[in-house]
Formats: sequence, structure tokens, C-alpha cells
Amino acid sequence: MKTRYLVWVTLLAAVGLWMGLGQNALPEGPGRELVLQKCQTCHEIGFVTRERQTRERWDSLITEMQNYGLRLTPEERTAILNYLATRLAPGATAPAPTQTQAATTVNGAQVYNNCIGCHQANGAGLPGVFPPLAGHVPEILAARGGREWLIQVMLYGLQGQISVKGASYNGVMPGYAQLSNAELAAVLNYIATQWGNALPSGQTPFTEAEVQAQRGKNLSVQQVLAARQQLGLR
Ligand code: HEC
Ligand code: HEC
Repeated sequence: MKTRYLVWVTLLAAVGLWMGLGQNALPEGPGRELVLQKCQTCHEIGFVTRERQTRERWDSLITEMQNYGLRLTPEERTAILNYLATRLAPGATAPAPTQTQAATTVNGAQVYNNCIGCHQANGAGLPGVFPPLAGHVPEILAARGGREWLIQVMLYGLQGQISVKGASYNGVMPGYAQLSNAELAAVLNYIATQWGNALPSGQTPFTEAEVQAQRGKNLSVQQVLAARQQLGLR
């Protein structure tokens, strides 16, 4: 199961690489290709490029990523650590703005590239590992309070035991508070209308103002999980 999932994740990373997402922001240097290959399978490379850390901090961060499922040989680990500790050291020059930040109009499909490593391009997720969004987002939106909750998941993430269409999940959904209100509204509208999904009747597309209204609540993943239990999803 785990190997199968890693194969998928690697394939999708290759697609992401091919599309050239955010690569420009990563400085040149030995080990750069390896970082691109290994560090954007679960999240956008922007997670890495925005950081400036000491060697010790990068070291423990790589261990943290390995606990999430990152697979590295000892040689790969050393090469990545050396790259990060020198090219993304405290005081290293700030990265150029990423494509999404520079864009004036935001494309939800493009923002969804942050999600495909886990929820897959077809929104089906991976049974028991990543919940589906296809056929599921409208259920969340139809629940009382579901619309606000969906924005909260995007901002703050979710962690802990949940059940979706009878299947159980207990993973980590990262929060995306670093994305702009426009990007979050765009990706919400994307997942609400793709793969046969549709907004429940009477609901209009997500707006930036709606996303802004949920910012600043600073919810923990535990609070987001507790709020999910109030939605009555099954
Ligand atoms: C198997 C999936 C996976 C891979 C591969 C992965 N990460 Fe992560 N990473 C995560 C998750 C999940 C989070 C979000 C954790 C959270 O929100 O607390 C994260 C968050 C981060 C963060 C933000 C740190 C923080 O505490 O908020 C950084 C920086 C990061 N990753 C760097 C890397 C680097 C560098 C690599 C490659 C060496 C990498 N990641 C590969 C899963 C992964
Ligand atoms: C590192 C893998 C990963 C990434 C990247 C990721 N998710 Fe998730 N997502 C998860 C996991 C795992 C869960 C379930 C968390 C749990 O088990 O508590 C989840 C849950 C969700 C849920 C709530 C489903 C429910 O019924 O509670 C939504 C909605 C969602 N993700 C949308 C997205 C969107 C949109 C993106 C991209 C902006 C994204 N996710 C990126 C792993 C991920």
C-alpha cells in the first residue's frame, strides 16, 4: 500500500516538475535537483524556498519530513542537508516572488497543484490515506456550517481520525494560510465544481472576503477537527 502510494506521489512530482512550478525561486547549487525531486511531492516547493534556517534546524526539519513519509538514502539526505544549510541559510538573499504571487488573476486549477500529490488530479484521493474531494466537497458544503468549515480546513489544516463515506482516515492535512485570499477562494471554487462536484443550490462562488473572515481565528488542527464533528458528516 505504502509503496504504491509512493510510486504515485513520485509520478505526480514528475508532472509537477515538468510544469516548472516555482522552481525559479530555488537558488542554484549542488543538490538543487534532488530538493526539487524530493521536496515537492507533498507540498509546493514554496514551503522550502520561503525558509531561512540554520543547519541544525534544517536537519531536524528533514527528520520531521521523513516522519511524514519522505524516503531518502543517507547520501541523498546529506546532499539535501548541505544544499539547504548553505543556499537557504539565515541571511541568504530572499527568493524571487513565485508565479502565483505575481499573477494578477488566479487560476484555481493552478493552485490545486498544491493538492494533487495527496488528493490526486482526479480528486479521488487514495483510499485510507488521503480522503476524496470528488463527490465529497458538496457533502461538506451542504452541511450546516460546512462552507465556513471548508475555508477553515484550507487555512489551518486538519489532523486526526475522520471518516469519509464509511472509510477511516488519520492523516495530516497541511494548512495553507500562506496562500492569498484570492488563491484560496480560487482553489475552493475549483474543488467545489470539478469532477462532477457542484455548489449546492443557493450557494454562490467563494469570495476573497469570505476567506478573510475566517483568517485571524487562529484555529488549531484540534479545533478544526472538533468543528468537523459538529457538521454531522458520515
Ligand atoms: C511525505 C510528504 C512530505 C515530503 C516528501 C516533504 N514534506 Fe515538508 N511537509 C509535509 C507536511 C505534511 C507538512 C505540514 C506540516 C504542518 O503543517 O505542520 C510539511 C511542511 C514543511 C515545511 C513547513 C514547516 C513547518 O513546520 O511549518 C517545510 C519548510 C518543509 N515541509 C520542508 C520540506 C523539505 C525541505 C522537504 C524535502 C527534503 C519536504 N518538506 C518534503 C510533508 C512532506
Ligand atoms: C500532504 C498531503 C495533503 C495535501 C498536500 C493536501 N491535503 Fe487535504 N487532506 C489530507 C489529509 C490526510 C486529509 C484528512 C486529514 C485527517 O485524516 O484528519 C485531508 C483533508 C482535506 C479536506 C477535508 C476532508 C474532510 O472530509 O474532512 C479537504 C477539503 C482538503 N483536504 C482539501 C485540500 C486542498 C484543496 C488541498 C490543496 C490546497 C489539500 N487538501 C492539500 C492531505 C493533504
